Amino acid sequence: MLVLGIETSCDETGIALYDTRRRLLGHALYSQVDMHRDYGGVVPELASRDHIRRVLPLVAQVLEQTNISLEAIDAIAYTQGPGLAGALLTGASIGNALAFARNIPVLNIHHLEGHLLSPLLSDPAPDFPFVALLVSGGHTQLMHVKGIGQYKLLGETVDDAAGEAFDKTAKLLGLDYPGGKLLADLATQGQPGRFRLPRPMLNSNDLNFSFSGLKTAAALLINKHKQKASTQTRADIALAFEDAVTDVLVKKSITALKITRLQQLVVAGGVGANSRLRQKLQHHLAGTGIVVFFPELEFCTDNGAMIALAGALRLQQLNEKPPGSDGSFTIKARWNLEDL
Ligand code: KG4
Ligand code: ZN
Repeated sequence: MLVLGIETSCDETGIALYDTRRRLLGHALYSQVDMHRDYGGVVPELASRDHIRRVLPLVAQVLEQTNISLEAIDAIAYTQGPGLAGALLTGASIGNALAFARNIPVLNIHHLEGHLLSPLLSDPAPDFPFVALLVSGGHTQLMHVKGIGQYKLLGETVDDAAGEAFDKTAKLLGLDYPGGKLLADLATQGQPGRFRLPRPMLNSNDLNFSFSGLKTAAALLINKHKQKASTQTRADIALAFEDAVTDVLVKKSITALKITRLQQLVVAGGVGANSRLRQKLQHHLAGTGIVVFFPELEFCTDNGAMIALAGALRLQQLNEKPPGSDGSFTIKARWNLEDL
């Protein structure tokens, strides 16, 4: 079965075609990051308007690139939430209109379910059940994933998401938006051990996280050195920050694996692209028998492939083919993954 995936929850328009037999056939992505950079963050109205411009040309591009016609598609999967309401409405209305016109089923996908399942796009892929560390710009959660649609929240951030902390600290270091990757690049020049920042909730007896205090500690350190902040000092602070965040993410992930006694860890979401996080997890899990899975770098951040995949897996799970779209739809700007 051939599923067209549409992702428009934030500032990336992602389109993909996934076949339940042949797997990912093709995908295309347009990032609005250059447009939002001047504002230091995503401007929701600009994001919605841009998605309107991009969705159909990207669909045409993916169909052409895969040599598949719209008539051959069996179902449409689109991100129903969570995300920016106007941006979600774009994908929802185009997805439903296409499904209505073709009289094929439409699948409403949870954006975080897409992230959680994204390592299944790679080879080797994890088997259910596994622990998932979901680290994006908006979320930081540890999940026990038992199967498609069976997600148990083990812990989450009580304030800022890890990606948000990366972006805010990057901004304080004078880096462009979104700064997570730029901060990580700067940190590669840092001297280990020159500064040490706190590891919030490292020893709390739960699987929750907190990053807003760490961001404040980084802000104080940056201010203290402001007058003579050489590139080296900024790099040293970036490294101290990255080290603190990744230490907490690693320790809590390992605790989650111990508690659940699961042997597989999946890391998903934009911060999952962070090399230091990847290296530390590989290092700490070496020789334990636990295997860690990362999505391909291009599927860590928002994309259409993970939405098409989630739609295809959902479709396969159904006993009978769902009815075609009746043309009506809703979006869910806020949506708890456990409510699926
Ligand atoms: O999953 P994603 O594309 O969007 C959301 O659904 O939020 O994640 C974006 C986040 C941003 O905060 C970005 O700065 C962060 O992921 N990010 C990184 C890296 N690459 C992206 N953070 C740290 N290191 C990276 N290499
Ligand atoms: Zn995302």
